[in-house]
Amino acid sequence: MSIFRTKNLDDMVAAGRAPGGLKKVLGPMDLIFMGIGAIVGTGIFVLTGTGALTAGPALSISFVIAALACAFAALCYAEFASTVPVAGSIYTYSYATLGELVAWMIGWDLMLEYGLATSAVSVGWSGYFQSLLSGFGLALPTVLTAAPGAVPGVETWFNLPALLIMLVLTAMLSWGMRESARVNNIMVAIKIAVVLLFILVGFRHVQPANWQPFMPFGISGVMSAAALVFFAFIGFDAVTSAAEEVKRPERDLPIGIIGSLAVCAILYVLVSAIMTGIVPFQKFLGVDHPVSLALQYAGENWVAGFVDLGAILGMTTVILVMTYGQTRVIFAMSRDGLLPRKLSTIHPKHSTPFFATWVVGIVFGLIAAMVPLNVLAELINIGTLAAFSLVSVAVVILRKKRPDLHRAFRCPGVPVVPALAVVFCVALMTYLSKTTWIAFGIWLLIGLVVYFGYARHNSALNQKA
Ligand code: ALA
Repeated sequence: MSIFRTKNLDDMVAAGRAPGGLKKVLGPMDLIFMGIGAIVGTGIFVLTGTGALTAGPALSISFVIAALACAFAALCYAEFASTVPVAGSIYTYSYATLGELVAWMIGWDLMLEYGLATSAVSVGWSGYFQSLLSGFGLALPTVLTAAPGAVPGVETWFNLPALLIMLVLTAMLSWGMRESARVNNIMVAIKIAVVLLFILVGFRHVQPANWQPFMPFGISGVMSAAALVFFAFIGFDAVTSAAEEVKRPERDLPIGIIGSLAVCAILYVLVSAIMTGIVPFQKFLGVDHPVSLALQYAGENWVAGFVDLGAILGMTTVILVMTYGQTRVIFAMSRDGLLPRKLSTIHPKHSTPFFATWVVGIVFGLIAAMVPLNVLAELINIGTLAAFSLVSVAVVILRKKRPDLHRAFRCPGVPVVPALAVVFCVALMTYLSKTTWIAFGIWLLIGLVVYFGYARHNSALNQKA
């Protein structure tokens, strides 16, 4: 049964450690920063407005629920990453445990997660960037400000800033990992400073009366908001895609995954509680900059300006790390023969998957420019929740299949913790809309067609057999 063939784990671990591959330059702090870089962005700076309208002041509880789903999954990710430190994240893990077809489908699913997330966040970036430009009295021709049909009643053709930011970051990534990590670290530091500034300044303006009634739309409102703001946590898993570029992956990957998630969970709960404490939640209707709006409401216009700048930088790093994760997954799939080989060639001078990086940058940059993506957060969420559930199942399977493997980090409480991860993720998925489920189903169907039409035959395992 060729669709269930698995890759040999020991070969994979050896291949990841072999000399001549990707450069090993990253340490634990780089990874935590990389995680935060991928996590804090559109979710907290844009989607919290809709979240507050859906859950009311109980939005902070929604963040706790989404964080728990992520935390259980993160522990499973950490075990895998410390056991099989090779590029390609969960795609690679499932290739060794669940077989080729499942691995392919997960890789296909990750393209949805990382790829569309870069496009969606580029569109968010473009909105903030244009509002910054307008602060200086500058404006682009309207037709170049958004994708066709993105703004009802306005003729738009192309979101130029969204494409340009994707291309600039692609150039940086293809240039070199060391340089990209350094730029990322600086931007992440500024982004954290801005969020802390919001917490410190905003805290003094909280009116506890705004927290009453706390849960105006009941549990279902809280859960629907959790399914949406889950988007704000996506990205910690991208840390694992760096596995082959980390100096001490067994120790540092779990630190990077769990550390970045913990920091962000604390920041998000505080930000959402303070935001809804400053402004009555109804005021967030139709607002795409809810965090700075709260400060403007409190009369802190200067600080609000800084928050806007932090949001732009924040989204920049999300795009950077997500694009990075996307290229590494494609790199791994191509190395296995499931995608064209050219996508896994490494540039002789820069030691990066140069070709794959540019393909990703151009394709998803064009999607960002041409497709109105504001509704796609849900689609990205469903793909990610499915991936998290599968990684949790895979951890249990690998424990059974290969108890002998050295696991530098062990997920505590197996199988209870992986089971909780699945329960939380599936519960959140049920709160997503029917349209999202249908779109997700169509994406998976296309994936099946490509697998049976191309990948299955070209697979390195098949060629070897
Ligand atoms: N977590 C990322 C964001 O909020 C995707 O933008």
